[in-house]
Amino acid sequence: MPVMTTTAHPGAGTTLAWGRHYAVVRPDHFRIDYVINPYMFRADQPDPALAMSQWETLVATLGRLGARVDVIEQRAEAPDMVYTMNLGLALTSASGSRVALSHMRHQERRVETAPAVAWFTRAGFTPTLMGQAGVGPCFEAGDAFPFGGDLVVGVGPRTEEQALEWLAREFEVVVRGLRIRHPGMYHLDLAFCPLGAGTALVCPAAFDERSARAVLGLVPDPIVLSEQEALTFCANAVVVGRTIVMPVCPDRVRHEIESRGFVVELVDVSEFHKGGGSVRCLTNPLDILIGRDVAPVAGGAVLLP
Ligand code: ARG
Repeated sequence: MPVMTTTAHPGAGTTLAWGRHYAVVRPDHFRIDYVINPYMFRADQPDPALAMSQWETLVATLGRLGARVDVIEQRAEAPDMVYTMNLGLALTSASGSRVALSHMRHQERRVETAPAVAWFTRAGFTPTLMGQAGVGPCFEAGDAFPFGGDLVVGVGPRTEEQALEWLAREFEVVVRGLRIRHPGMYHLDLAFCPLGAGTALVCPAAFDERSARAVLGLVPDPIVLSEQEALTFCANAVVVGRTIVMPVCPDRVRHEIESRGFVVELVDVSEFHKGGGSVRCLTNPLDILIGRDVAPVAGGAVLLP
């Protein structure tokens, strides 16, 4: 690690407390049955054996880095269920563990809710639903991350504004909304990745102007990605301590990451890019704590630029 690191980036290498326990869905039924994002083409199907071996490498990598990984069985009628990140937002506080189930924007993915409820319940999370079957606000958990003591939530392509109020009240936290406008970055996790307490990968081009300014204001030492860099899926990464598990990493981005004391580990999940998701989408963090990673605030609050 270069000696200059800490001088150039105050807070460099400060690791996240969460990100050591994940749920993943085994891709036994992964295919492209419908088109709900710009990456999906029914004529471009994933190779099942290659997808499985890429997924196994990802799971083994997370395990080797010291993360606990719980495997969920995939339902045959739910091809996108492999994008585990979108099943729900699991948060634990002094009053117990809860999961805000996603209320998927697209009807095609709503079959994932029942198996998600069953799995999270068995895992000890009390499920809560802000909407179901098209009634109530849409929310997809790939739009939500803890950062800086708040919950940062993308709205627009998938999550609806009314979901912010619901999350703030339900969990009694501050929700900072960001308006996503890029059709290729339909979830926050394609444009924003917390790396440490003070740093994150951020692609301002994913957001409208005010939200682009807002997200840069939230992160003391951002690694700013160009649109072209973000569209490689490099921000769709998982962070285990000092290691950033990424599907690909442009050289410039790698240099920025390493200069902050982090290490890049590449895992090729190209088959899953055909469904429009990558490393982050394939995982769901189960160890986010209110009181440690997100500050409790009586009644909650919403900030939306
Ligand atoms: N085909 C899935 C969809 O469009 C991809 C989900 C990607 N997941 C993510 N967390 N960004 O919903």
